[in-house]
Amino acid sequence: LAGLRSKVMGQQVHMYGEVDSTQTIAHSLVGAGAFEGTLVLAEAQTSGRGRMGRKWHSPAGKGIWMSLVLTPRIPVYFMPQLTLLAAVALCRSIQQMCSVDIGIKWPNDLLIRGKKVSGILLESSGEDERLKYVIAGIGISANLKTEDYPEELLPIATSLAIESGQEISREQLIQAFLKEFEDLYFLYSEQGFAPIRLLWEALSVTLHRPIRTQGPAGIIEGIAESLDDSGALTVRTADGARIKVFSGDIELR
Ligand code: BTN
Repeated sequence: LAGLRSKVMGQQVHMYGEVDSTQTIAHSLVGAGAFEGTLVLAEAQTSGRGRMGRKWHSPAGKGIWMSLVLTPRIPVYFMPQLTLLAAVALCRSIQQMCSVDIGIKWPNDLLIRGKKVSGILLESSGEDERLKYVIAGIGISANLKTEDYPEELLPIATSLAIESGQEISREQLIQAFLKEFEDLYFLYSEQGFAPIRLLWEALSVTLHRPIRTQGPAGIIEGIAESLDDSGALTVRTADGARIKVFSGDIELR
């Protein structure tokens, strides 16, 4: 990547044509000694994976399908903070590249006009409290056209090209992301989650809106009130109770 401005992230890049998932490759590279900042990129994925066991549509040459190796010195229960950090970095780098009205839906989906344009999947290794490493998987639907989507995705998915009317340079966007991510990652390791939380809140399309989600004890409905220090969403229900949502998906209403 000529013109790379980050010092650690993306210093080692492994590029592939078609792979099953860049996540799988990144895990095995760590097994072979890859260090922090190693980036895996693929033109296409045959089994791109999303959160909660979903598939990620990754057609050839149309998007950015990448996985970044991280070795953060944080306990496992801080992982959600890292996903929120990645969402902020992604949002900021996309804003640099094209003029679109993009925001973050909790925890880490990037939406334009209510449709998803990018997603983040963090996978960790280490059963106990200590994380050995984390693979941050990032999918950006950069240059897909409507005909590149299967019918069922059209109502819920979009691309930067569709929304901005221009072709996006994948290389420039990757570099912008790596720089933004690295700056925030260093800030986080020095100052903790507080500054990241402020940035996330400013980019959020979730806060102060009515939402619905499936909780462990049934449906939770209410107003998304705030983000707490662990990255959990506090929801205020009609009867005034405050419920914390730690993971899963929410529906904006
Ligand atoms: C989500 O929103 O559910 C997360 C999607 C993450 C997709 C990316 S594409 C690159 C990396 N490899 C994968 O198999 N998944 C992630």
